[in-house]
Amino acid sequence: MMHDTAETKGPRIVIALDFPDRKSALSLVNQLSPEHCRLKVGKQLFTAAGPELVRELVQRGYDIFLDLKFHDIPNTVASACRSAADLGVWMLNVHALGGKSMLEAAADAVKDSTQQRPLLIAVTLLTSLDRVDIETIGLRGSVQENVTRLAKLTADSGLDGVVCSAQEATTLKQAMGQEFILVTPGIRLQDTRSDDQVRVVTPTNAITHGSDYLVIGRPITSAPDPMNVLQKINEEIRRVK
Ligand code: C5P
Repeated sequence: MMHDTAETKGPRIVIALDFPDRKSALSLVNQLSPEHCRLKVGKQLFTAAGPELVRELVQRGYDIFLDLKFHDIPNTVASACRSAADLGVWMLNVHALGGKSMLEAAADAVKDSTQQRPLLIAVTLLTSLDRVDIETIGLRGSVQENVTRLAKLTADSGLDGVVCSAQEATTLKQAMGQEFILVTPGIRLQDTRSDDQVRVVTPTNAITHGSDYLVIGRPITSAPDPMNVLQKINEEIRRVK
């Protein structure tokens, strides 16, 4: 069975659980509810707390985005994707720069999943890279050209979408079509600090640019009342679409 697409129901906010251990992650999760958000487990928390915590969050009814950005030879990535799918995660990701064979192997692996098939998305270029960085590693053209080319490769290889900045979302929705899922970090609420995010947009702007899911960390996780901030964001974006 397929998961809901972004056009159907379900929370569009994915809270980044960027915590050093299980205890601090759960103390935030205990204040949330799976009706109002999904959760992202990344390299820091996964390395510290492991698959047990992911299973527990799935058990509690949360949709989990396992953000481990796999990038290895096709066989290894396919095996890792299978293991992630077996955990029952809702979404997982790989690097598009791993190439077509790796992407296809990942897509095949999640199709065979005995669980509900997770959404499989790719990172095109890390948003921390600028034009000089990509030239240094031998890529020609602008960041946007490379992002669009890698997004096409991602779709051609059978994946569901990409992680992208809100700035890239409008171009990508036009180039790739409505069904192609766009997951966008770098979200900040109006009148709050930007932390270390360089290019930030508000939740409303991200949705109007074409983002399907918004990854939000510190604006929620560092708030005195995280659930209150989450509900405000949900109300704000409900008014957009
Ligand atoms: O706290 P903040 O809202 O900045 O967290 C954003 C989350 O999205 C972090 O987990 C970060 O690793 C992730 N991310 C990002 N920029 C990207 C890709 C992922 O900030 N380009």
